[in-house]
Amino acid sequence: MKGPDLVRRQLLIGAAGIGTGAALTSVAGYASPVMPESGASRGPRRIIIDTDPGVDDALAILLALKSPEVKVEAITAVAGNVPLDLTLRNALRLVEIAGRTDIPVAAGANRPLKRRLVTAAYVHGNNGLAGVEFPEPKTKPTAEPAPQLIRRIVRQSPGEVSIVAIGPLTNLALAFREDPQLPSQIRSVTIMGGSLSGGNITPAAEFNSYVDPEAAQAVYQSGARITMIGLDVTRKAALSEGQVHLLESAGNQAGRAAGRIMRATLEQVRRTGANGGRLLAHDSMAVASFIDPSLVTLQDVHIEVETEGELTAGETVGYRKTPMRRSAPLLEAPAVADDAPFQPNAKAAVDVDGDRFLSFLIGRLAG
Ligand code: RIB
Ligand code: CA
Repeated sequence: MKGPDLVRRQLLIGAAGIGTGAALTSVAGYASPVMPESGASRGPRRIIIDTDPGVDDALAILLALKSPEVKVEAITAVAGNVPLDLTLRNALRLVEIAGRTDIPVAAGANRPLKRRLVTAAYVHGNNGLAGVEFPEPKTKPTAEPAPQLIRRIVRQSPGEVSIVAIGPLTNLALAFREDPQLPSQIRSVTIMGGSLSGGNITPAAEFNSYVDPEAAQAVYQSGARITMIGLDVTRKAALSEGQVHLLESAGNQAGRAAGRIMRATLEQVRRTGANGGRLLAHDSMAVASFIDPSLVTLQDVHIEVETEGELTAGETVGYRKTPMRRSAPLLEAPAVADDAPFQPNAKAAVDVDGDRFLSFLIGRLAG
C-alpha cells in the first residue's frame, strides 16, 4: 500500500475513533456482520425509506444506498424538517447524487394528520440541507402518492419488505388507515424517533413524534413489528471534525456531498447552539442498526404517544413492566379499573456502541 493510502487509512481509523490492530483489516475498519436471519432468503434486505430530508436524513439515505446489505425499493418524502416541496426535491437530489435514479421517489403528506406543520430550519437550514446548494433535480417523483406506493410494494411481497421511517410518521399512519391489515404484511418497521429520556424540541418530545403525535400513536398501536431508535441512543454519537473531513475528502461523489452537508451543518449548530453544537446522525443510526442490530441494545417496551398534552404532546411514554398505569382520574371521571398488564408493542434501543456506529457510517460513506 502506498504512503497516502496508508495515511488515509490511519486518519480514517483514528478519526472514526476505532482502535488499531484488527481494525486495520479494511479502510472502513468494519466488516458488516449482517447475516440473513436463519432460514431467511439470502441477499439484501428490501426496504422503503420514509424521510424528511433533512441533513441527517441525507446521510442516512446515502448510507443505505451505499450498503449492499439493503435494497432500497422506494423513498417516500414527508413534511417535517422542512416543508414537503423541499423534502421531496431533496430526496430526488439524493438519488441523483448517488446515481440511483432507478429508485422511485414519492411525495407524501404535506402536513401532520391533525396539526399545523412545525419545521426545524434552525438545524436543517431553510432548504433542508444546511444551505448547501445542489442542482435542481431533473428526476420526477412518482405519480403514486407515498401511502399508496408503500402499500403496493408491501402487498406485492408480503413479509419481505421493511420500512425505515426517519421522519414524522404521517405517511405510515395514512397507509395503515387505508389498509389496516398492512402492518401484519410488513417485515419490520425501524423508527428513528421518540425518546425514553426527554425530548429535543420540547423537554418531553422528540421532533418526529412531536410533529405528528397522532400518527406516531397510530403506528405504535398498529401491531407492526417496531424497533424504536430514539434520542436515548442517537444523542450518544456525534461526528468529529476529523470524520467530517474524511467525508469531504471521500473518493466518491456521495461521500463528498455528505461531507459538504455535514460541514455546513456543523457550522450551523455551532452558530445556533442547536443539538448543543454537536453533529448528530440520528437517522443514520436507524439505517446502521437495521443493517447491524449488534450496534444497539434493545429492550421490550410498550410505547404510548401523548396526544392530549398542552406541554407534552409527542412524548413517547415507554412502559417496561406491569402495571401500565395512566394519569390519575379526574373527579368527574369514573374510578379506574385495574391497570393494564405490561404488553410490549416495540423494542427500543437503550444503548449503542457509538464508536462502532460512527466507524461504520464514515467507512461506508468515505470508503
Ligand atoms: O429528532 C431527530 C429527528 O428529527 C431526525 O429524524 C431529524 O431528521 C429530524 O427529522
Ligand atoms: Ca429525519
